[in-house]
Amino acid sequence: MQSGDNVTLGGRDRGPPACSACFLSPVTSPWQHPDRAVARARSVLITGATSGFGEAAATRLAASGAHVIVHGRTRRRAEAAAARIRARSHEARVDVVAADLSDRLAIDALAAEVRTRFPALDVLVHNAAVVPRRREATREGLELQFAVNHLAPMLLTARLLSALRARPGARIVVVASQVERDGHIDFADLQSQRRYDPYAAYRQSKLANVLFTRALARRIPGCCPTVNCLHPGIAGTRVLNALVGRPDWMQRWTAYREPTADTQAEPLVRLVLDPALDAVSGAYFRELEQRPPSDRSMDDVTGERLWAVSNSLLGLPSDWADST
Ligand SMILES: NC(=O)c1ccc[n+]([C@@H]2O[C@H](COP(=O)([O-])OP(=O)(O)OC[C@H]3O[C@@H](n4cnc5c(N)ncnc54)[C@H](OP(=O)(O)O)[C@@H]3O)[C@@H](O)[C@H]2O)c1
Repeated sequence: MQSGDNVTLGGRDRGPPACSACFLSPVTSPWQHPDRAVARARSVLITGATSGFGEAAATRLAASGAHVIVHGRTRRRAEAAAARIRARSHEARVDVVAADLSDRLAIDALAAEVRTRFPALDVLVHNAAVVPRRREATREGLELQFAVNHLAPMLLTARLLSALRARPGARIVVVASQVERDGHIDFADLQSQRRYDPYAAYRQSKLANVLFTRALARRIPGCCPTVNCLHPGIAGTRVLNALVGRPDWMQRWTAYREPTADTQAEPLVRLVLDPALDAVSGAYFRELEQRPPSDRSMDDVTGERLWAVSNSLLGLPSDWADST
């Protein structure tokens, strides 16, 4: 199926993706940091901003003048990250929220806190991810990667969408990965109960990120908020170390040779700030370049099936993102 093909599921014709022009004319202009005024006007929530790409992007955005809301699994880790960010940029405007994203009630509480404390949220960045070497399950029995990497962004989006819709120029950014192109949504064993392979579960969750981005963009005509996803680059973070299965001694060795998230944060910063992307939605970026999504993530039938199954697992109505 090609981008722009109509999708009919459950008797509904969803039509082409919102902003279909964005798929046809990729943004190729070189990225330049906008005026400080652009960043200063943005309030950005980044999940998993206590290390890796999340912390690196939060640090750069705060230095650019944006108001950054650092999310951490625990308040202690989030406060520690906020302190490091303030130490690097004394004028940084940084706030902190905490929630374990494997816990549905904690996500509800996080969303309620964000709506109350930060009603002027402009950008929601879904960055947090986890890769356990052995299968782990949430309280509800969901496989941890599927829950944290895919379902949590969906639930948090559902809870914050109306607040974002009220903000002109609002954005949702999903940190996916290039491994999505080899991913497979295994509807027969979505929770990896029969067989758990950490890499396969990660690929599935990252393909789910791209399918979710496109399914959500189809439901938001008019690009407010826009919804885009990216492969941020490769960096020697805990996610990468877990994927590759490196022992501690090897991590210390590879740390000297691999790029760090600090040097690789610019693509994520760009998706948050670049005014050239104001009308781009449903798009996939490989680092700084807009690229056609992989064949698997263009499979909108699978995307709609995943949307329905995920809603059912989360107890969300199927039309939560529809604008009417
Ligand atoms: N590293 C790469 O080469 C690479 C390549 C492509 C895509 N990515 C993507 O980049 C994103 C960031 O990962 P990273 O590489 O920067 O790894 P990272 O340093 O391990 O960051 C992961 C973040 O997610 C948080 N997190 C994990 N489980 C959580 C939970 N249950 N509740 C709340 N927060 C949780 C972690 O919090 P704690 O600090 O509390 O653990 C941490 O802040 C991920 O989406 C990943 O898939 C990475």
